[in-house]
Amino acid sequence: MGTDGWRDEVITRLRGVKYPGFSRDIISFGLVQDMVMEGSDLKLKLKLTTPDPAVPEKIGKEIRDALKGYALVKSVTLEIEVAPPQSTASTGPQGIEGVKKIVAVASGKGGVGKSTVAANLAVQMARDGLKVGLCDCDLYGPSQALMLGCREGIRVEEGTERIVPAECHGVKLMSMGMLLGDDSPAALRGPMVTRFTQQFLRQVAWGELDVLVLDLPPGTGDIQLTIVQTVALDGAVIVTTPQEVALVDARKAIAMFRKVNVAILGLVENMSFFLVPGTNQKHEIFGSGGGRREAERQKVSLLGEIPLDPEARKCGDDGKPVVLGPSPSEAAEIFVLIAQKLKKILF
Ligand SMILES: Nc1ncnc2c1ncn2[C@@H]1O[C@H](COP(=O)(O)OP(=O)(O)O)[C@@H](O)[C@H]1O
Ligand SMILES: [Mg+2]
Repeated sequence: MGTDGWRDEVITRLRGVKYPGFSRDIISFGLVQDMVMEGSDLKLKLKLTTPDPAVPEKIGKEIRDALKGYALVKSVTLEIEVAPPQSTASTGPQGIEGVKKIVAVASGKGGVGKSTVAANLAVQMARDGLKVGLCDCDLYGPSQALMLGCREGIRVEEGTERIVPAECHGVKLMSMGMLLGDDSPAALRGPMVTRFTQQFLRQVAWGELDVLVLDLPPGTGDIQLTIVQTVALDGAVIVTTPQEVALVDARKAIAMFRKVNVAILGLVENMSFFLVPGTNQKHEIFGSGGGRREAERQKVSLLGEIPLDPEARKCGDDGKPVVLGPSPSEAAEIFVLIAQKLKKILF
């Protein structure tokens, strides 16, 4: 251990301090600007851009906790500079040229039907006359090309070198995974994911869009973090199932958007119940009322409760979102209502 050995230990400990609401730590986030040891007093300088006064307080406390028990540090002097987000306008969230509204569809947990909801809402809003784009931002598990039955490959626009989205069921579709080979996702990590995500949405020739729907990966990792920080979102739709395990994670996703002042447009509860075909018998497989209770607790609207519907699953696998029919479907009816509500909220 050299004379600067304390630095490694401090960094290791600070890596355990997460930015509130995110899974990423303050070191990898680049928030620690300077660290100096004067005797046994550690002076740390941090720079944050958040309008929420609770954030510096929470980070400060967690830093002190993380350093407790490290013998070389007897005291910690914190200098936390909070620059308002406006002052970083050039690097802060920006709109996308030609796109009127950008909506993220997010969930805490995977497998709750986020992509199904994103696909059906996008297709239904297009049927309602809006110009709609859909971007699958799940680098590691893209599913929209399959759900929309899109077999088109990537084309690059001559002159501008921008990527031309595919078009399926009246929706312009782009998938972040399309640009990566089959083996590359595993190799793409941390800072590379961030840079790739930052550039990606602006490299697509979306043209004029009323709404761009972003199908986010589950959770609150690098991709989600980058998107909420760099793209000026008009709001987020949170998808959950009624079970507590999904609701816990939905809460985290809601907290992430709130930290950066993105409006929660509403909660969609998926797989709410199973209607025995040909009867009125409802089976509430994942419990009942979880979405409604959570929406009330979070003071957000419950946009709809979508039943488990074999037709929805089949249509997803067949590349034709269930709102397109032709078979009657309970889920489809609710998707149509949710799309209408969303349109009303946005325009
Ligand atoms: N309401 C539903 N009824 C029946 N199957 C559904 C429903 N919602 C989603 N599914 C199916 O569940 C699986 C996971 O859904 P998906 O949308 O891919 O979840 P996520 O994007 O949250 O991981 C898919 O096979 C999908 O077709
Ligand atoms: Mg998905």
